[in-house]
Amino acid sequence: MCGIVGYVASADRVGAPRALDVLLEGLRRLEYRGYDSAGVATIADGQVAARKKAGKLVNLLDEIDQAPMAPARVGIGHTRWATHGGPTDENAHPHLGDGSRLAVIHNGIIENFTVLKARLVEAGEVFESQTDTEVAAKLIGQFYRGEAAGDLTEAMRLAVNELQGAFTLLAVHADAPEQVVAARRNSPLVVGLGEGENFLGSDVSGFIDFTRDAVELEQDQIVTITADDVAIIGFDGVPATGRRFYVDWDAAAAEKGGFDTFMEKEIHDQPKAVEDTLLGRSDAAGRLSLDELRIDPQDLKEVTKIMVIACGTAAYAGHVAKYAIEHWCRIPVEVELAHEFRYRDPIIDSNTLVVSISQSGETMDTLMAVRYAKEQGAKTLAICNTNGSTIPRESDAVLYLHAGPEIAVASTKAFLAMIAASYVLGLYLAQLRGQMFAEEIGDVMADLGQIPQKIQQILDQADPIRELARAMKDTPSVLFLGRHVGYPVALEGALKLKELAYIHAEGFAAGELKHGPIALIEPGQPVFVVVPSPHGRHSVHSKVVSNIQEVRARGAKTITVAEEGDEAVTEFSEEVFFVPETQPLLMPLLTTVPLQIFACALAAEKGYDVDQPRNLAKSVTVE
Ligand code: F6R
Repeated sequence: MCGIVGYVASADRVGAPRALDVLLEGLRRLEYRGYDSAGVATIADGQVAARKKAGKLVNLLDEIDQAPMAPARVGIGHTRWATHGGPTDENAHPHLGDGSRLAVIHNGIIENFTVLKARLVEAGEVFESQTDTEVAAKLIGQFYRGEAAGDLTEAMRLAVNELQGAFTLLAVHADAPEQVVAARRNSPLVVGLGEGENFLGSDVSGFIDFTRDAVELEQDQIVTITADDVAIIGFDGVPATGRRFYVDWDAAAAEKGGFDTFMEKEIHDQPKAVEDTLLGRSDAAGRLSLDELRIDPQDLKEVTKIMVIACGTAAYAGHVAKYAIEHWCRIPVEVELAHEFRYRDPIIDSNTLVVSISQSGETMDTLMAVRYAKEQGAKTLAICNTNGSTIPRESDAVLYLHAGPEIAVASTKAFLAMIAASYVLGLYLAQLRGQMFAEEIGDVMADLGQIPQKIQQILDQADPIRELARAMKDTPSVLFLGRHVGYPVALEGALKLKELAYIHAEGFAAGELKHGPIALIEPGQPVFVVVPSPHGRHSVHSKVVSNIQEVRARGAKTITVAEEGDEAVTEFSEEVFFVPETQPLLMPLLTTVPLQIFACALAAEKGYDVDQPRNLAKSVTVE
C-alpha cells in the first residue's frame, strides 16, 4: 500500500547524476503497491523540484516529459494507494512544507491528523490537499525551522513523536541536499547499500536493479542516508543498528519473462514456486527438517491448538491448511480472518500456535493479529514469501515460501506456495509428535514432489479454459461450489474472478447449496464445481456429483474441475477440465490452476489490467 523510494549519491560518483532514473525505476517496480497517483521530488540547484500526477506511473512520466527536471543526486518517489483524500493531482505525494523547501512522502495512516491539522492551521500553515501526509510535511517543516534548528533528522524525530498510527515517512530538504531522512512505524522500509550511493524502498524491489545489499530496520526507527553513510536512531534518539541481509532473487525474476502480464507469468511460475517451497525441507528418506523455523521442537510438541490467521487469498490457503493439519496431526486448527481475530477476545494461551500466512509479510491486519497473539502469550509462526518483512521478523518462527517475487496484485503463485508450505508444516508437526509413520510422511512428500510437473501439465493444456473464458466474457455472475479442500478452492476461484474481471462471483460449500444458495440458480447461470477426488476413505465425491445434477436440473451451465478419469461428472457437465490425479488432500494445488487461468483470461478479454485491478493494492498496510 503505497510504494516509497529514496536515493542519494555523492558528487564524485562516476556518471551523470541519476536520481530521477533511479527513482522512476524503483517506482516502476513498486507500482503494484498502489497506482492511484505517482510523484517524485529531487533537490537540484538549491531548490525542491517536484512533479506529481493522478493515475498510473505513466501519467507522471508524461508530466516529466512535458516539464523536464534538472539532473539531481538526491530525491524521493511515491506511488499511492489513496486513503485520505481522493486520487487527484493535489493529493498525490510528495507534499511540501517549510515554504516549499521540504518534500515529504508517506505510506500509512496518521490517525491523529485532524487534531494536528487544526493546530497547524492555527499556526498559519496553508494546506493544499486533503491528505494526512501534508500534516506530517508541515509538522516536520515547523520543527526544522524551530526546535530542531535546521537538523532534518531531529525535525523528523520530533514530528514522529507526535504522530499516531502507521507510517513510513521520507523527507528531503533543499538546505540539506546530501541526505534523505526516513522514519518507520508499522509500515515497511528497507535500506539498499550501494557504492557512493544509498537507497530506500518499501521493499527491496525498489532498488533491486542497483544493489542486493540491504539493511532491515526495526519498528520506530529513523534512518538518515547520505551517499556514504547509513545512520539509524530510535524515535527516542538512541543510536541503533539494522540487520544486514543479501537479496537472493535477481531482477529478472521480477520481469514479465515474455508473458504479456505479470499475472500470466506468475501463473506459469507455479511449478517452480511449489518446487522451491518444497526444496531442502526433507532428506532422501523423506524425513522433514525445518531448522530454519527458529522454534524449540519441544514447544511445538506441547501445542494443543493451532490458529491460522490471514486475509483474503492467504486465508483460503489457511482453510486448506486446516484440513491437512487436523488430518495429519490430530491438533485442532481454527482459521480466522486476521482483522476479526483480535477484536473478539479469542481463547489463546502459551500452548496455542498462531500461524500467520502472508505473501507480503506486511499486511497490517495480519501483523496486528500476530502482535496481539504474542501479547497473549501464544507462540507465533509466520508462513511468508517476503524475506525481511515485518511479520516474520516479529514472529517466533518463520517458514519462508521461496516462491520468488509476486508482482501482480492478485495472488496466484503465492497461494499455491502457501498451501505447499502448510502441508510441509503439517507433516513436520505430525513427525515431531509421532502422529504419522515416517513412510506415510515420505509418501506424501513424494506425491508433493510430483505436483510441479502436474501443474505444468495443466498449464500446457489450458487453451480450452481460455476459450471458455473468452466465450463467457459477458456473463454477469458466476458461482463456484466445492467441498472439503475443494471449498477454499471455490472461494479462491470466486475471489480471482471478482478482483480481475469485476463480475459478481460467489464461492459456496457444495453441501450448503440446498440451505439457500440454490435459489440463485436460474437457466444459464454458470456454476463451476470443484469436484473432490473419487478416491480416499471419506470421499464426498458422490455427494458433489449429486450437487452438480441438482443445479443442472434447474438450468445451470455446469463447468467442472475434476480428477482425470472421473467419468462420473462428464455426463452432467457442459465443460469439464481434468487435472492429474493426486492424494485428495493435495488436490487444491491442481484444481486452483484452471480457475486462475479462467479469471485471468476472462478479465483480459474484457480489456482489464489484470496486474493492477482497480481499487486494489498488493500490500495492504492499513487496517
Ligand atoms: C487476493 C489477494 C489478497 C491477499 C491479501 C493478503 O488475490 O492477493 O486477498 O491475499 O490481501 O495479503 P498477504 O498475503 O500479503 O498478507
